[in-house]
Amino acid sequence: MWDERYRRDDFVYGKDPNGFLKEASRGLTPGRVLCLAEGEGRNAVFLAEQSHQVTAVDASAVGLAKAERLADERGVTIRTEVSDLAAYRIEEGSWELIVAIFCHLPQPIRAELHRQVVRGLKPGGLFILEGYTPAQLALGTGGPPTKALLMTLTDLQRELAGLDFEHALETEREVIEGCLHTGPGAVVPLIARKPEV
Ligand SMILES: C[S@@+](CC[C@H](N)C(=O)[O-])C[C@H]1O[C@@H](n2cnc3c(N)ncnc32)[C@H](O)[C@@H]1O
Repeated sequence: MWDERYRRDDFVYGKDPNGFLKEASRGLTPGRVLCLAEGEGRNAVFLAEQSHQVTAVDASAVGLAKAERLADERGVTIRTEVSDLAAYRIEEGSWELIVAIFCHLPQPIRAELHRQVVRGLKPGGLFILEGYTPAQLALGTGGPPTKALLMTLTDLQRELAGLDFEHALETEREVIEGCLHTGPGAVVPLIARKPEV
């Protein structure tokens, strides 16, 4: 489905980074970054432009090919991995920053991935996520059409046990990011840090 969606010249979520990620990552010291479900690469390329060493993972080869083209266009390098996150193994203790922007997976898969996020971060590392909550179903401005793929703050608190939440809330904000995110969005933006040992 995602390959079909991405098989067009324009970028369905745009070429600019997600608005929350742009603010949340401001001023971070460059380091190793893992972008989960990165699609066409707008966030990975933005982070590479901030001098981070970025790996982008997604199940869509078409999306990641566009990500590489966008990186070339911007004169930066990113590493891409075509992989199903249901089977993906995050390298442990390796990442200064892990990013999941609109990474909507079935709950058991998301929970396992989040357990790996906690293990994958270096001590002091950050996890930045923005996802749609079930309240998005009533708004109809983008995101998955089924509750099973949406997330609440309570879900994230349970799944990310072991991280310190620095910023996390359920809120509504204008999400105008490409042609598939087109208006007020019910979202959960989150910044969480792995404690130093
Ligand atoms: C809403 S798009 C978000 C893309 C990107 N994070 C962004 O903000 O522009 C969701 C992405 O999740 C990816 N995805 C969905 N299920 C996946 C899975 N099981 N494994 C890997 N990627 C998956 C899709 O290919 C798609 O690129």
